[in-house]
Amino acid sequence: MAKHRFHLAWFLSEGYGPKAWRSDWPGSQTDRARWMMPDIFIDLAKGLERACFDYLIIEDSSNVPYTYRGSHDAYLKYAACTPKLDPAVLAPYLAQATRNLGIVPTLSVSEYPPYLLARLVNSLDHVTEGRIGWNCVTGSNDGAAQNYGRDKHHPHDERYDIADEFADIVTRLWDSWEPDAVVLDPETPIFADGSKVRPIGHEGKYFRCRGPLNAPRSPQGRPPIVQAGSSGRGQQFASRWADTIITDGGGSVAAMKAFRDAIRRGAAAIGRDPDRIKVLFLASPFVDLSMEMAQDRRRRQQADSLAHAEMQIAAMSRLVGIDFSQFDLDEPLPAHLTSNGHQSLLAKWIGKTPRSLVQSYFQKGGIDFTGTVDHVAGLMGEVMEEVGGDGFLLLNTYFDRRYIAEICDGLVPELQRRGLTRRAYAHKHFKDNLMEF
Ligand SMILES: Cc1cc2nc3c(=O)[nH]c(=O)nc-3n(C[C@H](O)[C@H](O)[C@H](O)COP(=O)(O)O)c2cc1C
Repeated sequence: MAKHRFHLAWFLSEGYGPKAWRSDWPGSQTDRARWMMPDIFIDLAKGLERACFDYLIIEDSSNVPYTYRGSHDAYLKYAACTPKLDPAVLAPYLAQATRNLGIVPTLSVSEYPPYLLARLVNSLDHVTEGRIGWNCVTGSNDGAAQNYGRDKHHPHDERYDIADEFADIVTRLWDSWEPDAVVLDPETPIFADGSKVRPIGHEGKYFRCRGPLNAPRSPQGRPPIVQAGSSGRGQQFASRWADTIITDGGGSVAAMKAFRDAIRRGAAAIGRDPDRIKVLFLASPFVDLSMEMAQDRRRRQQADSLAHAEMQIAAMSRLVGIDFSQFDLDEPLPAHLTSNGHQSLLAKWIGKTPRSLVQSYFQKGGIDFTGTVDHVAGLMGEVMEEVGGDGFLLLNTYFDRRYIAEICDGLVPELQRRGLTRRAYAHKHFKDNLMEF
């Protein structure tokens, strides 16, 4: 049975921002006004821990976009992609409210200097006692680059070259204190042994950094790196650095399997053990008491999506840096479009109409997980069996407290009953739980 077990993580899409502010669920009024408080996120984290999820990723971006119609109005009107508070601030609150859940803020190599990022993640790993991860992203929207002193982002593939050098520096800084460098002997006195703490002396193409880090090795040493690049260069980067990869998987079981196999081949080719990289596929389950009730809710969400197509189109425009207001809703997107943002996403959109993309917006990953808990749990098991592993990254951008309960206290117990996901955490540290199976 254990060989079929898979991992679960949660993608807090739209980051530390307003969630259920349009929800008609009675509990949502409080969350509407207090969205900037950690409350609903703490409830979510506790629910995920009850259900023994591996981790929660806090998505992030760092600007008020204006790609759609050259204006920020649509983004502000719908709270689409903005506002977002800093995910590194939320992380310790979530850690304080839980004991085992991994917590993964998104931190961009286009926004942080490597030393600052290494120090922040090391500090978070200390205060969470080994439960932090780093969602390593390279940035996509030029509006964010403009907040950090550049007119536009570096070219897509070069961003991954920069990220390679960046991750190398960060991991070497994390390693710059040996595990037993801290002696803590008040008699001698000796706090730390200087021979066990070393500068890294990095002089590279993009960065210079002397090191060592000004803090001891953290509980996990090298906290897990999460990565989401799906383009060819993105996959190459992920195969080298990622402990876990998050992806929409390409829209079919065959594409999911091909993606995972390619990552595993890439890892093996550079001498990594492919079993040490957990590939998690986006899924947006909808469960209810009957198939009809679940489908009805899915339909209502799609109808809401279509009624507010502008919100989704504005969000899509930001991701690839193309103003989609110039295209007819019912004309297929032309083949000549190029992006310096999310290239793999654009490749999937070309040839489809914006209206059809809006309609499927809530079915991320392409597989329809709608129905009773029995149906959805069975389907998730079948898909994982065919793909070969390693799990799902659950997502519902505008979740409310009802949705948390449906997933964490409805769907996941059924997965557990079938022996498909863990029933208890075996380890204290996030990385050890991630690598357990
Ligand atoms: C599930 C998922 C989550 C992502 N989360 C973020 C994020 O929080 N912040 C961000 O800037 N980019 C995020 N990205 C974008 C990726 O980091 C990457 O920049 C993007 O997929 C484009 O890379 P590619 O062209 O290699 O696919 C995410 C992508 C996926 C598929």
